[in-house]
Amino acid sequence: MTRTTLMRLIAAVLVLTAVISVVMVQIDWNGPAGATEANDVDTLLDVMIILSAFVYSIVLVMLGYSIWRYRAKPGDESDGEPIHGNTKIEIAWTLIPTVIVLFGAAYSWVILDKIEARESDRLEVNVTAQQFAWHFEYPDQGVTSTELHVPVDRQTEFNLKALDVIHSFWVPEWRVKKDAVPGQPTSLVATPDTDGNYELICTELCGIGHSTMRAPVIVESQEDFDKWIEDQGGKPGGQAAAPPGGAAEGSLAAEGKQIFDDQGCSGCHTLKAAGATETVGPDLDEVLADKDPQFIEESIVDPDAELAPGFAQGIMPDNFADSLSPEQLDTLVKYLSQSTQGGKSGAGAQ
Ligand code: CUA
Repeated sequence: MTRTTLMRLIAAVLVLTAVISVVMVQIDWNGPAGATEANDVDTLLDVMIILSAFVYSIVLVMLGYSIWRYRAKPGDESDGEPIHGNTKIEIAWTLIPTVIVLFGAAYSWVILDKIEARESDRLEVNVTAQQFAWHFEYPDQGVTSTELHVPVDRQTEFNLKALDVIHSFWVPEWRVKKDAVPGQPTSLVATPDTDGNYELICTELCGIGHSTMRAPVIVESQEDFDKWIEDQGGKPGGQAAAPPGGAAEGSLAAEGKQIFDDQGCSGCHTLKAAGATETVGPDLDEVLADKDPQFIEESIVDPDAELAPGFAQGIMPDNFADSLSPEQLDTLVKYLSQSTQGGKSGAGAQ
């Protein structure tokens, strides 16, 4: 292949990439946008489309060139020339895809990092998914609802919990999506920037009623949101709870129970103080009664390190070190320590 031919092929690839990209990027793949995260996700998709168009163009141009250049002459019945290896081409077809894939990975990482950043004044909503319904709890406002109301232009964090099987939280206009997994709390944030009515859709096949598992989403001004909270009997204006670092003793029980419930502990354990009666995991009143806080903390962050008799390895999620903030972990440990040793007359009881 001469240098001129190579230049022409490269030019053909670039022109084809441009033509395909212009057409494909025009298409409104994701529909209307309704959150600040949507712009970043849509830009990411456009970049991926252009990269894909580039790869597709290389394949198409080389295919066309080979068909044309190496076609058999009329009457030529002979075999093709045997060819072994071509170091230059092999380096090129390893290096180019590697660069493309690494760029895609790095760029996605940057976008994900940006849209997942938590803001300090965010609104917290606890979301419970079950076959086949959604429930919402506003812990700071003291409201529960089957409609999801959120204020416009304020970040909201959705703490997801599933009671039975895996469900998935998705409001198409916000783009972001996350699974709700039994026994493994997850969360996602969105900052809706356009008020109006939307729909929360379960996007994980979860059973016979999956397609009906939807909930109304109302994005409204902060005033309308506060008014709705008041109508529901809650107290508006509640900001995201401050980290309970300097929490007063009186609120330890309430905060501890909140974390115990939010993190799904009550879905598996028995703990009298929290009114929890499940038996998937050990009875905490029993197994923690003579344990110090250090043991309790280890049992939460590294549950398989020491197992309670009769319970197998791997039953308890081992990601609480990630899903709990250091303050939450501290509160939970204190809460468990206090509530399990309260009635115990042994040494170490406080
Ligand atoms: Cu819940 Cu699909």
